[in-house]
Amino acid sequence: MSNQLEKVKELIELRNKARLGGGEAAIEKQHAQGKYTARERITMLVDEGSFEELDMFVQHRCTNFGMEKKQYLGDGVVTGYGTIEGRLVYIFAQDFTVIGGSLSETMAMKICKVMDQAMKMGAPIIGINDSGGARIQEGINALSGYAEIFQRNILASGVVPQISGIFGPCAGGAVYSPALTDFTIMVKGMSYMFLTGPKVVKTVTGEDVTQEQLGGATVHASRSGVTHFAVDTGEDGITLIRKLLSFIPQNNLEEVPIKKTDDPIDRLEDALNDIIPDSPNKPYDMYEVIGAVIDNGEFLEVHADYAQNIIVGFARFNGQTVGIVANQPKCLAGVLDINASRKAARFVRFCDAFNIPLVTLVDVPGFLPGTGQEYGGVIVHGAKLLYAYGEATVPKVTVTLRKSYGGAHIVMSCKQLRGDMNYAWPTAEIAVMGGVGAVEVLYAKEAKESPDPASYLAEKEEEYTKTFANPYNAAKYGYIDDVIEPRNTRFRIIRALQQLATKKQTNPAKKHDNLPL
Ligand code: HXC
Repeated sequence: MSNQLEKVKELIELRNKARLGGGEAAIEKQHAQGKYTARERITMLVDEGSFEELDMFVQHRCTNFGMEKKQYLGDGVVTGYGTIEGRLVYIFAQDFTVIGGSLSETMAMKICKVMDQAMKMGAPIIGINDSGGARIQEGINALSGYAEIFQRNILASGVVPQISGIFGPCAGGAVYSPALTDFTIMVKGMSYMFLTGPKVVKTVTGEDVTQEQLGGATVHASRSGVTHFAVDTGEDGITLIRKLLSFIPQNNLEEVPIKKTDDPIDRLEDALNDIIPDSPNKPYDMYEVIGAVIDNGEFLEVHADYAQNIIVGFARFNGQTVGIVANQPKCLAGVLDINASRKAARFVRFCDAFNIPLVTLVDVPGFLPGTGQEYGGVIVHGAKLLYAYGEATVPKVTVTLRKSYGGAHIVMSCKQLRGDMNYAWPTAEIAVMGGVGAVEVLYAKEAKESPDPASYLAEKEEEYTKTFANPYNAAKYGYIDDVIEPRNTRFRIIRALQQLATKKQTNPAKKHDNLPL
């Protein structure tokens, strides 16, 4: 064998060794836990044969605690680039088979390299987390590695989409990388995220809590809102990343590719003409309205289990991606509260950063009253949503279906927050407040003096409702651009979006804004 052939053989052997990560036993352990390895996850994620791995020969430099004897080619992370539906993406996937995927200085270097590359190329970054956290033997060097990654997460925010799949443990300060990214996906029973684990919790607070209770997928999807998605299996997580990417652009200077649709733009939905119940206190399901107006009913909901009084997610109109924000009358009457405001504000800001038009469907009775909300700072949290809509310069189409009262009316993408097209159904009620509350303020004295206060107030309420609980008062002043037939909503939204395709609007120059945090 010639010298050259021998060297090629050696290269092939080294590559094969690197591809084994922490070795066969560790791979088997990973599989026994129902988990895929980093390389298997990447293979499932990208278009077949498209992955190009980088830094396969990187090794850690730590010599503490005998670490010089624990060497693995590529260290504990697989990095590189590939395509998803033909579009370039950069990927890092922590390899739990190598020292528990714990983060070393050199692993951080590898991760930072693909992040820098993604920024230069304007392509999304997908991080797959499955790690025991900072590599303890490396001390401060591991911490500095995390800080390097966080800094890049921050600079990439709003420039290229960043998606975090949590497919195993993600503990300690390590959680801050996913928290800085745009979307987090967790797998039920497999992933957990917490700043301090159950043992520390027990020592400090005395609470007995399991990993799942403290930071499992269900908890973070429904209670903390830390994760946007909770899926059943690792495969579902990978499929979801691919689907999510289909709705978002490569970077903040590009638009999302149009997905051709066979759903007619002028499809009439007769059921929408009769969906609003006669009683204003009766709910209906906003999902039915969303499903009826978007292309083929295909809705990718974000934060589905968190703050269910507001619905946010991606859909398409005539093939064009939009972000939908909709109050849900079926949950807490669609009221705005702290969690709903935070959830929707974050979504609106993502869409605005990435050129995705916003379609807002309004049926909101107001903000949730009470000390719980006030002490929790609903004023500031509500302001986040108000701010997000007001600063957004993407096309904004609003349809008011029923209630739109008070401060909540303003917050939900009203005309004066630079709403581009504001439509209302004939069932809309756009006013300062609902009838009951209004007459109690306006006629409290007269009611007291009347022989029958209850019927006096009922009469006044009817008068108030007749005057104000309609869309025409707002339309009279041009705050509503048109009152539309509900069954024609899809067509009107599509027409509006077509009209707004060339919209150009800028905000005043500033270093950055001061969003109420
Ligand atoms: C070094 C680690 C490690 C770590 C795991 N390993 N975590 N090595 N540093 N942080 C090693 C284990 O020693 C073991 O090595 C191998 O990885 C597999 O781990 P196991 O414990 O056998 O796996 P499992 O039973 O599945 O348990 C997984 C685990 C546990 C729950 C994640 O490993 C664990 O508790 N790790 C420590 C977690 C932690 O406290 N990390 C520091 C957090 S603080 P061998 O050789 O036996 O195979 C932090 C600060 C970040 O991260 C700050 C950023 C700002």
